[in-house]
Amino acid sequence: MITFADNTFRLSTFETAYWFRVTQFGHLEHIYYGAPLPDDQSAEPLALKRTAQIGSSVIYCPKLTAPAEPEARRRRRPDTAQPAANVNDPGDDMYSLDVLCLEWSGIGKGDYRNAPAEIKMPDGTFTADFVYQSYRINTGSMGMDTLPSAYSGESNCETLEITTRDESNNVTLLLYYTVFADTNVITRRAVLKNGNKKPLTIRKIMSMSVDIPDDGFNLITLDGGWIKETNKHDRKLSYGVHVNSSTTGSSSNRHNPGFLLASSRATETQGGVYGFNLVYSGNHYGAAELSNHDIVRVQIGINPYCFEWLLNENERFETPEALMSYSGKGYCGLSQNFHDFINNHIVRGEWKNRERPVLLNNWEAHFFKFDREKLLELARSAKNLGIEMFVLDDGWFGERDNDRAGLGDYSVNRKKLPQGLEEFSGRIHDMGMKFGLWFEPEMVNEDSDLFRAHPSYALQTPGKQPARGRNQLVLDLCNPEVRDYIVENVTGILDTCNIDYVKWDFNRHISDACSPGITDQGKFFHSYIIGLYDILNRIFTPRPHILFESCGAGGSRFDAGMLCYCPQIWASDNTDPIERLKIQGGLSYLYPLSTMGAHVSEAPHQQTLRDTPLATRFNAAAFGCLGYELDLNVVSQVKLKEIKEQIAFYKRHRRTFQYGIFWRGEPDKDNKVVWHCVNKDGKAGISGFFQTQATASEGFDRLRMMGLDPKRVYTVTTRQQRLFIERFGGLIKHVLPVKPSPDGFILRTINKRYSLTDCVEKYTAYGETLMGGIMLNNQFMGSNYNKNTRLLGDFGSNLYIAKLKADS
Ligand code: GLA
Repeated sequence: MITFADNTFRLSTFETAYWFRVTQFGHLEHIYYGAPLPDDQSAEPLALKRTAQIGSSVIYCPKLTAPAEPEARRRRRPDTAQPAANVNDPGDDMYSLDVLCLEWSGIGKGDYRNAPAEIKMPDGTFTADFVYQSYRINTGSMGMDTLPSAYSGESNCETLEITTRDESNNVTLLLYYTVFADTNVITRRAVLKNGNKKPLTIRKIMSMSVDIPDDGFNLITLDGGWIKETNKHDRKLSYGVHVNSSTTGSSSNRHNPGFLLASSRATETQGGVYGFNLVYSGNHYGAAELSNHDIVRVQIGINPYCFEWLLNENERFETPEALMSYSGKGYCGLSQNFHDFINNHIVRGEWKNRERPVLLNNWEAHFFKFDREKLLELARSAKNLGIEMFVLDDGWFGERDNDRAGLGDYSVNRKKLPQGLEEFSGRIHDMGMKFGLWFEPEMVNEDSDLFRAHPSYALQTPGKQPARGRNQLVLDLCNPEVRDYIVENVTGILDTCNIDYVKWDFNRHISDACSPGITDQGKFFHSYIIGLYDILNRIFTPRPHILFESCGAGGSRFDAGMLCYCPQIWASDNTDPIERLKIQGGLSYLYPLSTMGAHVSEAPHQQTLRDTPLATRFNAAAFGCLGYELDLNVVSQVKLKEIKEQIAFYKRHRRTFQYGIFWRGEPDKDNKVVWHCVNKDGKAGISGFFQTQATASEGFDRLRMMGLDPKRVYTVTTRQQRLFIERFGGLIKHVLPVKPSPDGFILRTINKRYSLTDCVEKYTAYGETLMGGIMLNNQFMGSNYNKNTRLLGDFGSNLYIAKLKADS
């Protein structure tokens, strides 16, 4: 998996190869990242050529003083690369760092591209030239001191550790490459060590940097904000530096840390696509720079924004772990690599690869207005529908009757739950459901006992009014006393009240980034995240039975760092299914469906006012970890019946939805979105066919399924779903035996009790035919409705279930 021969490091996964070599002057030259290559292929044909001098470039001059190591001694050290030429080489006038493809680069030696590190070195300059010293190969992954990282588990995995040094400063830079062969992911990170008596100051240090020749790349990022997270945006990479970063103190809802570089020829299923992500939940920085010589430098790491880290003698600094993957099978191939990787090497503990319960969360049903009876009534209705877990959201503690008070005081509000939380949790368990609870432990309201007792626990800039967000301040997680308080408070409840699930919220961005406990505020943002990981470790590692769902006012902390602690994350406060197609669709480029919290809520939707069919709300949420946020006690009987059927259906197919192989389809038309989940054995699959907007007299619809066995026969059936009379308004008079009353009374009454069953299609075909595309029934076109008409309209959808025929 990792070899070193002919001065070249060859890292290989099942479907990718990553090569680099040591140049004659000790720099690490990137050679190739892409589809596998034959073992005996030499590097030379792949390397970028240096056969002409480039005008106005600065030529690297090697150090002339080091005596050449005797050849015999070098041979005795098996772990040391053989420099290709004598280190006393007076130079090479074709050797300019600016036009080399590099694995890392310094400053001050002729490379003018975006530097992976900006360090005020012990000699007081910014000049840094890290030169190769030696390498080691270790079995498995190597954990870190302060940050979470991917783990190898039972799988085949190796780590390459490369030592480079800036000799005149006595500063060492270690570069780590861990190869996860089974999932086609290679991770990278760096550790800087100061061996000098004088300190150095890090102003920027990336987790990785790599230069690859341009392939007409498109850069794809996942961006947005509150209720519009992770919408996909792409643009052609043009000259200069394009930055994808966050400054909010979290990985943010503005720009997810992960991004892709795709060949302009790539489609969902074909062509080369690279993906990069970061195992980190704080301010991140990703950059793609297209240089004047058409080389693309890609970097990802901690955001240098407000970052400054002093390193004294013998201290070390470790960067978060970067993830890289490549697929020659288009965007879906790349996504599938990351899905497998996150399910198997990031998510850990008892919930790894385990099906997630269907939950009911009371937030949208009640907001802050509830009491024990109301909650129990809702829980009973939930249980009747087959829901497996009842989640009590915000408002159960302190004086929390609105968002202006109580945050920080996690003792039960006895006005709402007079018998306490333990009793209430007991009642839910007695009904046969699991019980989950909401916390927002990193925040405090000024109107709280915690703030009154410890105002210094909240972040404040001396002499300035702190900025508020949602009427709350952020607690200082750099302060160990605050961390102890949070751990004690939260675990006190978890250990006494039989809690099966925790929703951990983070509802505002960080401001007033200042902790009196740290002398240098350039350390603040990174120390906050280290503090957060410390808390999560202390709370959740000893309690692996708890299903932990992270949330950040929706999806403002959806990242691989959090996923090392929580197996699932609330994707967005926006549960409008048409918006969710964009949000979950965007996330699906990098994260598996098992990690996405997805709920069915009311229509018209609370944020977009869009009125969507209940079936579509379910069909979109089913491509994730299903939950409901409705007040079931005001839902009509006929809709409750539909919900009960949805839940039963989801439970039957939950493994396919959560852990199947996921494909985004490439529909024929712009007003369609098609998703597919297929069992790993290819025996069954489900396709979601969504129509975002209707067009008049819509032409044919073709469904192309994915991932099936081409040579075997499948049956395909639509999930039977209900359509509600209200959707048809005045049209219903055409089929009613009685004349509707002008005040709508008859329609409203019918709507509560009756529904139409949507058209069910059935097909039998070879996998090959299904993947080539089958023609679906006509949509309703204004006249002659019959039971074979598909009634989609705006926002309509269907699920198609493919099953291998028993005798095929
Ligand atoms: C955030 C979450 C919601 C809900 C509220 C409670 O907005 O994203 O799901 O928990 O907080 O205050």
